[in-house]
This record gives sequence, C-alpha cells and structure tokens, in this order.
Amino acid sequence: MIHSPRRRRRVWSAVAAVATAGLAATTALVMSSGTAQAAETLGASAAESGRYFGAAVVPNLLNDGTYSSALDGDFNSVVAENAMKWDATEPNPGQFNFSGGDQIVDYAQARGMEVRGHTLVWHAQQPGWVQNLTGNDLRQAMLGHIDGVAGHWAGDIESWDVVNEAFEWDGSRRQSNLQQQLGDGWIEEAFRAARDADPNAKLCYNDFSTDGLNPKSDGIYDMVADFKARGVPIDCVGFQSHLGSNSDLSTYQANLQRFADLGVDVEITELDVGGSGGAQANVYRQVTEACMAVSRCTGITTWGITDAHSWRGDETPLLFDGNYQKKDAYYAVLDALNDGDSEPPPGDGGHV
Ligand code: XIL
Repeated sequence: MIHSPRRRRRVWSAVAAVATAGLAATTALVMSSGTAQAAETLGASAAESGRYFGAAVVPNLLNDGTYSSALDGDFNSVVAENAMKWDATEPNPGQFNFSGGDQIVDYAQARGMEVRGHTLVWHAQQPGWVQNLTGNDLRQAMLGHIDGVAGHWAGDIESWDVVNEAFEWDGSRRQSNLQQQLGDGWIEEAFRAARDADPNAKLCYNDFSTDGLNPKSDGIYDMVADFKARGVPIDCVGFQSHLGSNSDLSTYQANLQRFADLGVDVEITELDVGGSGGAQANVYRQVTEACMAVSRCTGITTWGITDAHSWRGDETPLLFDGNYQKKDAYYAVLDALNDGDSEPPPGDGGHV
C-alpha cells in the first residue's frame, strides 16, 4: 500500500480545522448579533435544516474577487469542478499533483466550508496512461489512485464521489475500460479501497439522468441495495441533476426517498438548469423542495456559481447571471430552503 505524504498533513489539517472552526464560530457570533440575517443566504438557509449549499469551483478563479465574493456570500460547501479528477491528480503513474485541489481545500477550511470530493474513478478525464492499461495493471492503477488521492485528503472531505457515471440509461453497466477490463466487481473494489484510504469520508456513487424513477436509477438502486445487504461500504448517492426548464420532475422526490430508505444519504451534486426566468426558477424550486422533503437529503451543490463560467456554454444554467446578479432561480431556491418564508426579491412584487 502506498502511503502518501498527505497522511502526515492530515494531523496538521486537523489542528488547523480546530483553529479555523474557533475563528468561524467567533465570526458567526459577531455577525449574528444585531443583524439577524442568517436565512438570507443559500448556505445559511440550508444550514438551518442541517444541510449544506455548495458550488463547484475552479482554483484559479478563487483569486478573482468578484467570484470569491459570490462564493463566500452564499455557499458553505465546495467541490472541485475538475481539480480532483484522475487526469489532474495523477498525470503520470504514481506521480501525484494535488496543487489545485489543495488550493480549494485550504480556501474552504479557512472559511469553515465543507468540501465534497469529486471524483476518484470515472471513465472520463482519465490520464492517457490509464486508458491504455489492461487487466490487473488497470486494477492496481485504480487502487493506487484511490489510495493516493483519498489518502492525501483524508480527514478533509465530507463526502467522496468514489465512482462516477458507471451505468447506462437502460440500467446496465456502462461499457467503460473499467467494466471491460475488471468486470462487475470493480465498483465495490473501489468503495472498499476508498474506505481504507479515508475512513471518515462518506462514500457516494454519483450519476446523471437519475432524476426520477427510470431504468437507470433502477439499476443503481439495485446495486446500492446489494451493497447494503452485503456490507460493501457505501454511504450516499449523488444525483447530478443536469436539467432543463422542461425536465419532468414528477418522480424526483420519490426517487430520492427510495434511495434514502435503503439507508444511504442522498445529495444533489451537480445541479444546473438550462433556460431562464420563471421556467428555470420553477425547476430549481422543485429540486430544492424535493431535497428539503427528504430528511436524508443532506445538501445541494450547483455546478458552478455564475453563467459566466459554466460548462454548459450559453444555456445560462446557474443561479447568478454573467454579471453575478442573482436570478429568479436564486430567489426560488432561497425561498424553498426557507420553506416559503423568504422576503421577496428586491424590486419584485412577490415570490418567483
Ligand atoms: C465537467 C466540467 O464541468 C468541465 O469543465 C469538464 O470539461 C468536463 O467535466 N458530470 C460530472 C462532472 O460528473 O465532472 C462534469 O464536469 C459534468 C458532468
């Protein structure tokens, strides 16, 4: 087993976290006295029910004051949009590069934010050297990668997306190199390795197009039920929720609930909704209400902060527009987090 240098840093991190937590508590006390504004940000509103509200972030943009102000103002959790993926963290076999991820973790810890980990094993964004491996060489690479990366950030990560996007729309396994080379057992091997590397992180399976009761979510449901029955370590399921304004969410909440009933937490991990105005806001509202209605739905992450920096190009899918102005969708989410008790948006006659 590889023991990465970060295992020593874990001790330092724990000390720093205590110091940071103390600072954050002091700041919170000072801020809350006299202002009573706690439920006017996404993060504070989510926190009132014990949930987080997060955003996917890019290390370089943390130095952009407008970007970091929006992040600090509304979010209490972050995830790396790309910086913790395999191609970024292990560009050559056994040679790790944690710089981007460390920047995000340090930023979050200095502000008392949670960090989600994304993602240890995925068919996409693999470095070239992994794509060419076969059989046991690929297995050893996967296990070494999990050990190196989850070990490095052990103690820093609230929940890890251990495996990402391993199912097809029809509920069968995706025919990736991992599946073809390693067979059905690779997912549980990954989860066991992640538990060994970071016993404190919650371990999630994460996927898209799982926004209701459908053949794909059925397949994942069966896997999670099987893992729970056999004691394979799994703690949570992530629902990416890349949506559009006309997405059918009629069974979205029921789907979250059936996973929760298996004894795992559920998280909305990559939420974004193409569109604009009331139609977009309505989809955001429905997702937020569904999470609020499921006690094991522990939080929501949007896949970015501003439409100016979104992987979905010109679909304007996020809560802040390209000029960092709060959109209708923002106020719909805030209101849903506050169970309908928010102040109406500025300049607006009522709730969106
Ligand atoms: C995306 C990033 O947003 C892009 O910057 C990158 O070029 C490709 O990956 N599902 C996932 C995320 O789990 O990691 C993807 O992120 C979006 C789809």
